[in-house]
Amino acid sequence: MNILIVGGGGREHAVVKALKLNQKVEKIYALPGNGGIAKEEGAECFPVKATDLDGIVEFAKSHKIDFAAITQDDPLVMGCVDRLEELGIPCFGPTKAAAIIEGSKVYSKDLMKKYGIPTAASETFTDAEAAIKYLKTCDYPTVIKADGLAAGKGAVIVNSFEEAKKTVDEIMIKKVFGASGNQILIEEFLTGPEVSVLSFTDGNIIVPMVSSMDHKRALDNDEGLNTGGMGTVAPNPYYTEEVQKECMEKIFLPTVKALNKEGRTFKGCIFFGLMLTPKGAKVIEYNCRFGDPETQVVLPLLESDLLEIMLAVREGRLKEEMVRFRKGAACCVIVASNGYPAHYETGYEITLPKTKTGEYLYVAGAKAAGEKLLTSGGRVLGASAVGDTLREAIDGAYALAKGVHFENAYMRKDIGQRALKAKNN
Ligand code: AMP
Ligand code: GLY
Repeated sequence: MNILIVGGGGREHAVVKALKLNQKVEKIYALPGNGGIAKEEGAECFPVKATDLDGIVEFAKSHKIDFAAITQDDPLVMGCVDRLEELGIPCFGPTKAAAIIEGSKVYSKDLMKKYGIPTAASETFTDAEAAIKYLKTCDYPTVIKADGLAAGKGAVIVNSFEEAKKTVDEIMIKKVFGASGNQILIEEFLTGPEVSVLSFTDGNIIVPMVSSMDHKRALDNDEGLNTGGMGTVAPNPYYTEEVQKECMEKIFLPTVKALNKEGRTFKGCIFFGLMLTPKGAKVIEYNCRFGDPETQVVLPLLESDLLEIMLAVREGRLKEEMVRFRKGAACCVIVASNGYPAHYETGYEITLPKTKTGEYLYVAGAKAAGEKLLTSGGRVLGASAVGDTLREAIDGAYALAKGVHFENAYMRKDIGQRALKAKNN
């Protein structure tokens, strides 16, 4: 089979590596892919942007594609799956109608309210003045969210009215996130451990994958700026079987059913960003795709065949027993360019250590230059390792990450420490 992947991060490299385990896969085309994917045997990258839907369609027409996996948020929200399916190419990923759960936070909030799915209380505003008037009456901290995609920066926790006013001004007047700021949500501030749950759904049933924990802040002890994620561990120790049961009953199944009722049947991966509050699990956000870097710890633990699952999802014949995970744990440490997510330099040559069984190097922000690999982004790569215990996985990931060399490399030193503490309590 010839497979097309749309996306170019560490998540996509992890998906490519997992798909390659299926003997039926002959060729993988990645648009645009990255330097790590380009080095995978049987994979080839082409410089078509993931948001260039016309370019993707042209590419698909001129190559024999048997199946496509769209794993990045913006092409999904723009309708990439609809365009490729029109050509007769079966896809893994939601249609534009279903991807709205990530494309519009206002839509998602209304959906959750309508169907009684637990989430933070909130108000929606289309007018800055009305938003500011409301903010005078709020308790702080409170949370302000731009409606649309904002490269993971659209949620701002504000600690005072002054900060809130400034944030509304930036999002709604200065339009720092463009049209994504035409509407905002002002949301109740929740507390509790956060859990990422990626799940496969074919529109009929939903099968959660092993849970994970992201580390979003740039610096140790969860300080510094918000990033796309500096590391992950799986499973998440706060996500017990009891919590999973509660989430299945109150969140996962109701979400799938709600989307069906609204004529927006979702096929693909729904990512539930949850907060385990003292009043139960609540949805912080929905994403319409695998998480990054959650995928870099979830897929190494997947025992089943990813392609077979993706095909079953597309064809509406997913079964719970198709999705099996090995026991044990995984950890991914992101090696970034120093300065990320603000200013950082690129173009440095990367040297990589050899990997053993159970170790994975997932390239994100690096490009191939002949035989060399050069840094080209903030998050350069993820070093992932699996182990029988969480501690083993963490030690393995750090040993691997420390073997990665390039000028200006930076990594957090405490990925997994919070999870270890939670386990020991
Ligand atoms: P989001 O872009 O919706 O994923 O939000 C980014 C981060 O902001 C989340 O991972 C949380 O840490 C935090 N956050 C979002 N919404 C809330 C909320 N209602 N209460 C507390 N923290 C939140
Ligand atoms: N790691 C969070 C995300 O993928 O949105």
